[in-house]
Amino acid sequence: MDRRHFIKLGIAGATVAVGGMLAGCAGGAEAPAPRSETHPQSQAETPSTSAATEPAAPKGTPVVTGNSLVIYYSHPEITAASDPANLTEAEENSAVVVDGEILGNTQFVAQIIARETGAELHRIETPHEYPTDHRELTNQAQQELNSGFRPEITGGIPDLSAYDTIFFGHPIWWAQLPPTVTSFLEQADFSDKNVFLFNTHGGSGDAGTPATIKALQPGASVSSDNYVVSRDAVAGAEPAIVAWVSGLPR
Ligand SMILES: Cc1cc2nc3c(=O)[nH]c(=O)nc-3n(C[C@H](O)[C@H](O)[C@H](O)COP(=O)(O)O)c2cc1C
Repeated sequence: MDRRHFIKLGIAGATVAVGGMLAGCAGGAEAPAPRSETHPQSQAETPSTSAATEPAAPKGTPVVTGNSLVIYYSHPEITAASDPANLTEAEENSAVVVDGEILGNTQFVAQIIARETGAELHRIETPHEYPTDHRELTNQAQQELNSGFRPEITGGIPDLSAYDTIFFGHPIWWAQLPPTVTSFLEQADFSDKNVFLFNTHGGSGDAGTPATIKALQPGASVSSDNYVVSRDAVAGAEPAIVAWVSGLPR
């Protein structure tokens, strides 16, 4: 069974539930998320998401300038035993194979942005353990999002003083930022930086996460021109990523 067929089976009855989230998509060919990755509206109304309804103060138009850093979080559902030539459905949903190397979907996008901009890359990591089994991972993520858990960030927040422009990317988890991403954003300070957002997803588009990020980084100049791509389209997204980067104001 191919991935698209797998997703179609998974969404039976779920299209209405994700309809609102799909409306927020900024780009990419979208497919509704499997039912297990949609969630009731009440779960989306976590404190962080509610806070995002307050618009950040206008900070001018962000431009790509000076030194750039690509910061991203990615959690492909792969193990040391994953075979690049024979990925399972769950692995394929969360990963891209490039020259025999398995990359997370968001990692793949981040690497292209870094290559196109000459930016350095910083991957957000946590010592907190997340399973790679999809069901276990979604269950744990749901519990953590409901409880407001904030994982520790490996190595803390990097020194951002040398950077003028930040590209910030993440996957969508339960129509929200993954806990590790929220944890990072609550500790980091993007004040006076130009910030461009990107995310990958399974059908929810950006799920309103740009507003959450703007609320968490009120001192930053955050672009509304974010790059959003479905996991179904990510493997073929390089031309679109390149076009997005080259079209950003300088
Ligand atoms: C715990 C969990 C929850 C997810 N929830 C959603 C969701 O609510 N909406 C959605 O569109 N995709 C959801 N997804 C799919 C991921 O956003 C998508 O597979 C993404 O491309 C993964 O990126 P990564 O490989 O860089 O981690 C979820 C994935 C996981 C692991």
